[in-house]
Amino acid sequence: MVVCHCRAVSDHSIRHAVEGGAVDVDSVSRRSGAGSVCGGCRPTIAMLLAEVCPLAAGTSLGGDVEAVPAAP
Ligand code: FES
Repeated sequence: MVVCHCRAVSDHSIRHAVEGGAVDVDSVSRRSGAGSVCGGCRPTIAMLLAEVCPLAAGTSLGGDVEAVPAAP
């Protein structure tokens, strides 16, 4: 599934970035390019981060937006 339409980045690529050590949306963005243009996909990136790395739940999206922690 394409998560970031601006940069054509898939959920697989984002999961790979997290498994490779990305711990927040900004680091996923640096590693994959997702979230680096319009920012519309950053909440989805945060949700994927919370799924793959629960310790990242509540991570900052950058700017004034906060991720919603994953449901237990
Ligand atoms: S949809 Fe990801 S930066 Fe625009």
